[in-house]
Amino acid sequence: MSFKQEARKFYPKWPIYNEKEINALTEVIKSGEWWCGAPGAHQGNNVWAFQEEFAQLQGSKYCVAVCNGTVAIEAALMALNIGLGDEVIVSDYTFVASASAVIATNAVPIFCDIDPNTLVMDVNNIEELITERTRAIIPVHLGGNPVNMEHLMALASNYDLKVVEDCAHAHGSDFKGKKVGNWGDAGTFSFQASKVLTSGEGGAIICNSEELADNIYSYIDCGRKKNQYFYKHYSYGTNYRMTEYQAAVLRAQLKKFPDQHKLRNENALYLIKKLNDIKGIKTMELTPGTTSLGWYVFPIVFEPKEFGGITKSEFYKKLNRNGVPTDDCYPPLHSLDCFKTTNLKKGIDYSKANWGGEKSINRNFPVVSDIYSRSIEFPQEMFLADRENLDNVVTFIKSLKEKN
Ligand SMILES: Cc1ncc(COP(=O)(O)O)c(C=O)c1O
Repeated sequence: MSFKQEARKFYPKWPIYNEKEINALTEVIKSGEWWCGAPGAHQGNNVWAFQEEFAQLQGSKYCVAVCNGTVAIEAALMALNIGLGDEVIVSDYTFVASASAVIATNAVPIFCDIDPNTLVMDVNNIEELITERTRAIIPVHLGGNPVNMEHLMALASNYDLKVVEDCAHAHGSDFKGKKVGNWGDAGTFSFQASKVLTSGEGGAIICNSEELADNIYSYIDCGRKKNQYFYKHYSYGTNYRMTEYQAAVLRAQLKKFPDQHKLRNENALYLIKKLNDIKGIKTMELTPGTTSLGWYVFPIVFEPKEFGGITKSEFYKKLNRNGVPTDDCYPPLHSLDCFKTTNLKKGIDYSKANWGGEKSINRNFPVVSDIYSRSIEFPQEMFLADRENLDNVVTFIKSLKEKN
């Protein structure tokens, strides 16, 4: 997503920072402790402190911090022993990372169409995608909106499948009173620059099993174990460690999060009501059972005929030109060039996937294809604007009807 900073008139720039982030970074630099490894070998303390603080925020027992949200998914899958020949069901409406992380483990992603109202994976479509090779499901809580985890976990339990929740958009979201990321085996987060908690790049995995947390940790720290000799590598692992710089900035951002989260939720409810009063606009519906959302990207779906037949690129470009940063939504995974070919990785058989070549046609993914053709998205910082500016956004969208 690339919401241009200079275009914005109606809502604040992102990221928001002050001397707290600057001082935290300066302290790390001056300390000379710039990295953080396992206890027993490590230098700095910010990463381990952040892991505890983030676990507390998300209501989980364990958290492992990593360098970005893509490898967070990969690490969770690897620690759950997903790999060669396994199929993993993923929402078709998400950022490429939800599926590229599956490819990284040598498993095969299988794309699941979405619910036209909530815009997240339609849990009623999952069962027909399950084969004897299916090993895991990755529900993506798009825009913070939770997938119906009650339904999904019942299916996972029936078919003995692992569940890795992609919570890259869902910091602070809950479903039926439980924070997302705690329903499945693990939940993964991103702290990339546009996210509601950010250090430019960064990621984390939360879970509630000590054994799984240890396995994830080992994978992201070169196969090491905590409190063991530095040059002992017990299992296959790689280096996806978070730096002390990232953790120091995140700890400062974390302190701002509760107030921002509250404001986003209040403003979102205010704006949704006003936008849905405009004929031809429909906002993402909250999954029933949700009380609080992370509110990351905020998709709206429009009826072109109500706006004089406007195309979606005309729609969001007009908004951009008038100081309301908006962007295209994620192109569905099945439509991406990389998933039109079955030669992604040497030696891996993708021929049984529900994408690739002729299979990657929109007709095979009807709901997401229609929604994508008519949806645009707003960035999360829109919900940090004051009410007057939120009203201005609504007025501007209404004015597009008159001009077309
Ligand atoms: C749904 C989703 N999953 C995973 C990621 C990957 O996160 P990162 O960019 O930190 O690697 C993103 C990034 O935007 C995302 O939107």
